[in-house]
Amino acid sequence: MSFPMTRPRRLRAAEFSRRLVREHRLGTGDLILPVFVHELDTVVPVASMPGVERLSIEALLRTAERAVTAGIPAMVLFPVTAPEAKSLDAKAAYDEHGLAQRAIRAIKSRFPELGVITDVALDPYTSHGQDGLLDDSGYVVNDETVEVLVAQALSHAHAGADVVAPSDMMDGRIGAIREALEEEGFVNTQIMAYSAKYASAFYGPFRDAVGSASALGKGNKYSYQMDPANSDEALREVALDIEEGADMVMVKPGMPYLDVVRRVKDRFEVPTFVYQVSGEYAMIKAAGQNGWLDERACMLESLLAFKRAGADGILTYFALDAAAALKD
Ligand code: PBG
Repeated sequence: MSFPMTRPRRLRAAEFSRRLVREHRLGTGDLILPVFVHELDTVVPVASMPGVERLSIEALLRTAERAVTAGIPAMVLFPVTAPEAKSLDAKAAYDEHGLAQRAIRAIKSRFPELGVITDVALDPYTSHGQDGLLDDSGYVVNDETVEVLVAQALSHAHAGADVVAPSDMMDGRIGAIREALEEEGFVNTQIMAYSAKYASAFYGPFRDAVGSASALGKGNKYSYQMDPANSDEALREVALDIEEGADMVMVKPGMPYLDVVRRVKDRFEVPTFVYQVSGEYAMIKAAGQNGWLDERACMLESLLAFKRAGADGILTYFALDAAAALKD
């Protein structure tokens, strides 16, 4: 009779040693809550994201309060623009009195300690749903778009945003935004760059939520968002964003791209974030509602997996649920 020399199961046999040898932990401090805000006074559920709602500014403040109470460090704001405010030049994006700008001011005046992150991209404001301006052929033009993104980021900083998060994937936008922020004296406004943002089908429910799906129609974002087949390219994108002045980088979506998170963290050793996107949330929710998966367990497992892959923090629609579960 021969015995195994090493028994990996020995350490797994009791809870005390499972705890002692645990390599990664999920904490409330890792969570960032994305929220949708609209112009209406009512709260309107997002059908494809059960549990997620489009909020009025008043309701947004109640959610902000819940986030603060739960110990969640930051929220990301996504405005739902009324169709009549959309245009070809996306000028509502940098309106000082726009919805995003008003929402930032409202949160910062009531909850100054809560980090406010804003999405910098033009898709909520363009009549065609693309993240930038189009030329006559329908191509999203880079440098002209960057100028508008700079105006948008500055308007967010003026309103009090702590972090601007460009999610547009134009070339050179991080450097241009950084330079403009410095010139205007916003030396401590942070940039969280959506560095490796893939042209993913997992954004579907988000586009329903903000109403860009109908504007986009059969259009796609392949000329600026990354090809899901690539990961070396993600490293080049991250390198550029760091060089241009990003404080934090992000990989998006999350679960299907854990390999990219790990490569980015290993290579650059910078604060690395991951976005568990709308489609990932919808999958876990739908399966949970059908009784096919244990929602709570799958939520916590998916979030822990991001930590294991090297993420420093996670943008997730589960943030409030996860914070509650972590308290139990
Ligand atoms: C807009 C933006 C998108 C998401 C975040 N910012 C959608 C897109 O690029 O089409 C997706 C988030 C999600 O699916 O949860 N630039």
